[in-house]
Amino acid sequence: MNIVDIIAKKRDGLELTTEEISYFVKGYTNKEIPDYQASALCMAIFFKSMTDREIADLTFSMLHSGDVIDLTSIEGIKVDKHSTGGVGDKTTLVVGPIVAACDTKLAKMSGRGLGHTGGTLDKLESIDGFSINVESDDFIKQVNEVGISVIGQTANLVPADKLLYSLRDVTGTVASIPLIASSIMSKKLASGADKIVLDVKCGNGAFMETIDDAKELANKMVAIGKLLNRETVAFITNMNQPLGLAVGNSIEVIEAIDTLNGNGPEDFTSLCVDLATEMICLAREDVDLAKAKKLVLESIDNKSALNKLVDLIDRQGGNKEFITNPDLFKQADEIIEVKALEAGYVKALDALMIGEAAMHLGAGRKVKTDAVDHSVGIILNKKISDYIEIDDVIAYVHTNKAANETIELIRKAYTLTSDEVKKPEMVYHIVR
Ligand code: URA
Repeated sequence: MNIVDIIAKKRDGLELTTEEISYFVKGYTNKEIPDYQASALCMAIFFKSMTDREIADLTFSMLHSGDVIDLTSIEGIKVDKHSTGGVGDKTTLVVGPIVAACDTKLAKMSGRGLGHTGGTLDKLESIDGFSINVESDDFIKQVNEVGISVIGQTANLVPADKLLYSLRDVTGTVASIPLIASSIMSKKLASGADKIVLDVKCGNGAFMETIDDAKELANKMVAIGKLLNRETVAFITNMNQPLGLAVGNSIEVIEAIDTLNGNGPEDFTSLCVDLATEMICLAREDVDLAKAKKLVLESIDNKSALNKLVDLIDRQGGNKEFITNPDLFKQADEIIEVKALEAGYVKALDALMIGEAAMHLGAGRKVKTDAVDHSVGIILNKKISDYIEIDDVIAYVHTNKAANETIELIRKAYTLTSDEVKKPEMVYHIVR
């Protein structure tokens, strides 16, 4: 077999065989196929796409390029959740404790933020002492005893994706549906869960900007799950403005704590309730969606979900007092009020710009090796459909440095209109 023939075949829009796909993934992972040939193939896939069978083969080869986690010693059905990445997305911090409080196990490997999107691990590390490195025996024990653990990916989980993702990042081939679907599903399948709930973000802060693209990605991932015997449900959700109000690290954890106390922003709370409901329903044969939703709401009301977050933090070495006393989070030196220069209803609030504005403060990374400043970020005070008067505070910037660029981006992110605007829907569609 020859990689040049494989590249040319895909360039001409032909279907690759299972063997050709496996040859590419093995060869690239072993470093026998160089970056320039792998990028040529990624670009050919970007333009010519892949059939469902090819995507399933690519996913299967990538999933077996490294360790496959065995969670069978955790009792019951394990459900995983994954978001395709957005701005202000702290759902794992709320959904995880809720499902654990409702007898559903979550053994979760999370990622770090890159670019304008945040990562759960960075958020959790804003709690003093919290460790994302847990030995696999302790990970399993913790999930069996507490119902939840959130850790970093082991070094050898889907090495093919680590290599391919870095390559795609610098060759203009990230936004390819077959490549995103195989990247996400290979990691989810290798992480060992029995069932998977995906949150496919759609809008200006997401990889998929249109509902049609998001639906196509969701359909592909659900199809891969089916072909590889893992029941998968995909939500397509609104990322045309940041999720909730906080965009940063500590301030997002504080918003998650508020939400588990029943005081979260409406859009964020409703998404967490819907995702958790679906996960519980998938895991537990004894409940339907209505019963699962009742359990979710009860777990917030009776604080059992909040107590699960306390247990999670405590078991992984974090200072659990942070959850009961959020004043303990490191504060930024300064909080700057950003005031409106004009009046009107908020028609649009560009999530990508707000994500970039937070990144300028140091809340996110431009490149993988950047350090993250946990204390900085943006708290939005106005969202789509709200009315703004001149001089109203539209956002608070938590910063440790001059923030002119951030303030300018925040103002630019808001588009106002004189006509009333409807509150946007949170969940556009569910693929089951
Ligand atoms: N998230 C991933 O894990 N992979 C992609 O390709 C895009 C988003």
